[in-house]
Amino acid sequence: MLDINETKNLTEEEKQLYYIGLSKKIIEEKERELGRKLTACVTTFGCQMNARDSEKLSGILREIGYEIIEDEKADFVVFNTCTVRENANTKVYGRLGILNSYKKKNSSMKIALCGCMMQEKDEVEKVKKSYRFVDMVFGTHNLFKFGELFYQMISEDARVIEVLEASDEIVENLPLERKFPFKSGVNISFGCNNFCTYCIVPYVRGREKSRNPKDIIKEIENLVKDGVIEVMLLGQNVNSYGKTLEPKVSFAELLRDIEKIEGLKRIRFMTSHPKDLSDDLIDVMASSDKISKHLHLPLQSGSTAILKKMNRVYTKEDYLALVDRIKAKTPEVSLTTDIIVGFPGETEEDFLETMDVVSKVQYDSAFTFIYSKRTGTPAASFDNQVPEDVVKDRFDRLLALVQETSRKQVSRFEGQVMEALVEEVNSQDESLVSARLLNNVIVHFPGTKDDIGKLVKVKLTKCMGFYYYGEAIS
Ligand code: SAH
Ligand code: SF4
Ligand code: F3S
Repeated sequence: MLDINETKNLTEEEKQLYYIGLSKKIIEEKERELGRKLTACVTTFGCQMNARDSEKLSGILREIGYEIIEDEKADFVVFNTCTVRENANTKVYGRLGILNSYKKKNSSMKIALCGCMMQEKDEVEKVKKSYRFVDMVFGTHNLFKFGELFYQMISEDARVIEVLEASDEIVENLPLERKFPFKSGVNISFGCNNFCTYCIVPYVRGREKSRNPKDIIKEIENLVKDGVIEVMLLGQNVNSYGKTLEPKVSFAELLRDIEKIEGLKRIRFMTSHPKDLSDDLIDVMASSDKISKHLHLPLQSGSTAILKKMNRVYTKEDYLALVDRIKAKTPEVSLTTDIIVGFPGETEEDFLETMDVVSKVQYDSAFTFIYSKRTGTPAASFDNQVPEDVVKDRFDRLLALVQETSRKQVSRFEGQVMEALVEEVNSQDESLVSARLLNNVIVHFPGTKDDIGKLVKVKLTKCMGFYYYGEAIS
């Protein structure tokens, strides 16, 4: 049994490493019993923030001794869940049913649930009662405790359920397994303070916390030493980065420091809330060779009245003026966005305002979502929920417009030579590799797996709608 005094004087980081070490011994024993290596699979639902968290979980599992695989018929499976829209939840429950059928055939299999959906009390209750085959539940606030919770589960062969309502803790330097050797996500802030009235994220991810700039720089320097040339800075609202730090640091200042890191070739970031996007940031972006000329700038709605009800704190005119300022400094910028259709009270006129903004801005691409009622958010109790058939009709019209503008926008680079980062061999045609341009557009061109992770100058010979065919220029 564990002697609690042993961890009393340790930092949180040391404590977690201690539990990881203890778990490792148990897994080694199990390996000997079974005569084979144990496998683990981490499945991610939701956004890039969750994807990065999954890398942390995989890193800890590998450290404990598991072989990380992509097959859910593994000895330990973690579902890192999302709850941003109702269909995200439905998907998780559907997939859990399949996991149960695997577990019936493998008595040593363990199943864990974590992530945003587990921050909702009702969902945890449902899992406790109706999904008894789930061995472990934890939330977004105690992800750093995964090693400790895992040890509890495996050493006592007990069901472990621990979800915290909030936490101020940011634990640095735990093991981590990167999906790509040459690029990596880097968290700069966690949580969100904006409380857009439709959105559940502030409730499940907690208040905004910025990481210390020194820790961010150190992490990126280490990543670069390890072969990374591109980072994606992650936060629900990167533009409000550093506001709660002492001394205050702005996102533009952080970018300037990150730019100086030698060996780092490209910098991306998401997501940018329009209300906090500073002129300083527009300037940094325009003057930098390393910063991606791509901005994901969620619009949500083009109607000022709806934006007000959404608590987005900008008007249609503010948004359009911001886009003008960005385009004036960086004319080649690629703009992408998120739009919600059918927010409570949305009229045909409101919807036409959204269509108008899409026509004016000319996005390179847009994610369009049907409004989904999230329990506990203010909008869930708003009057005038829009009938399903009306929403569907608007959604189809918006999608058609988005596709038309996006095709036109993407094609504007045809014939140009641009630098592209090769990500993988093309899955359909092995004579081609697939690479990403600084503006986030994909180009396929003749190459081999040796090109993966390299920056290559590519002529964009033919636009195929949303992507390009090209050829490398030596
Ligand atoms: N922090 C990011 C977005 C996080 S959620 C931002 O503010 O831009 C990603 C997207 O999901 C949002 O931009 C929004 O368009 C969509 N979304 C969030 N809640 C939703 C809901 N209840 N129904 C439909 N779409 C929603
Ligand atoms: Fe949700 Fe708004 Fe925060 Fe984005 S900014 S995570 S949409 S509350
Ligand atoms: Fe989903 Fe949580 Fe991201 S709700 S969108 S995984 S922050």
